[in-house]
Amino acid sequence: MKGIVLAGGLGTRLYPTTLVASKQLQAVYDKPMIFYPLATLMLAGIREILVISTPTDLPRFESLLGDGSVWGIELSYASQAEPQGIAQAFLVGEHFVGREPVALILGDNLFYGRMDLDRIVRDFREGAVIFGYPVRDPERYGVVALDRDGRVTSLEEKPARPKSNLAIAGIYLYDDRVVELARSLKPSARGELEITDLNRAYLELGKLQAIPLGRGIAWLDTGTHESLLEAAEFIAAIERRQGLKIACLEEVAYRQGFIGRSELLRAAEAMPPSPYREYVELVAAEQT
Ligand code: DAU
Repeated sequence: MKGIVLAGGLGTRLYPTTLVASKQLQAVYDKPMIFYPLATLMLAGIREILVISTPTDLPRFESLLGDGSVWGIELSYASQAEPQGIAQAFLVGEHFVGREPVALILGDNLFYGRMDLDRIVRDFREGAVIFGYPVRDPERYGVVALDRDGRVTSLEEKPARPKSNLAIAGIYLYDDRVVELARSLKPSARGELEITDLNRAYLELGKLQAIPLGRGIAWLDTGTHESLLEAAEFIAAIERRQGLKIACLEEVAYRQGFIGRSELLRAAEAMPPSPYREYVELVAAEQT
């Protein structure tokens, strides 16, 4: 399965910080936000990844992440001229996707905990998979309602009266029909190709599966100054307690077997003296 990180948009709610760098390049505690969704894809065993951002920000992502070879992955880049909807990622990334299944993750979505994504990706055969996460304020999100057998009964984007408390998290798996289905979507009232409409197309084909995420998993939002700060505090609290890092890409690559110990050490050597480098060296010395 291939992967796409969608990291465009205007980030207006984070103005004026987003004048310096786009939202997904802002720090979440001790590393750039995009490291987290990248780590999520890598932990799912995905190694061929397309990063989509705005024409202005794309070069900054390219200089931050390069071709991905330090992490044993293959990164490519594409620009979305205007933020015309999350589902537009499949039109922008049409050639990248080709005829393969693909996972899309939003560049501002942070997941922490055992989601079993590697198994879900391995077992994925066809259709689409979305994830439902219980939240206090479902009206801010796409909302999925399920019947007793776990079948999807409704999908709504930011409903005034949500039919459940399950928000649709910003990670989605699709089969090779996704580009064709994205092409058939019409822009919504707000002028966007809605991801919820794409999921509805799969629902109408009888091919949409929703997996509820347990309360042991943290799904964090970073769209506002408050939620960004909360996400940073969450990451900091866990990292300080455990002495382990969340979404250290070198560590993820090493533990996933994408790179070996000598490559890990070489990556560390290229870093300036810093707590991050010290951590990578500890990982290489098997002292974490
Ligand atoms: O976070 C999960 C939610 O993401 C889902 O529950 C909703 O169903 C889904 O529509 C989306 O809602 P948001 O209101 O959070 O979407 P937003 O427009 O903020 O876009 C999410 C991210 O995707 C954001 O970081 C910017 C990026 N984006 C968005 C659009 C519309 C792009 O890169 N290009 C775009 O065209």
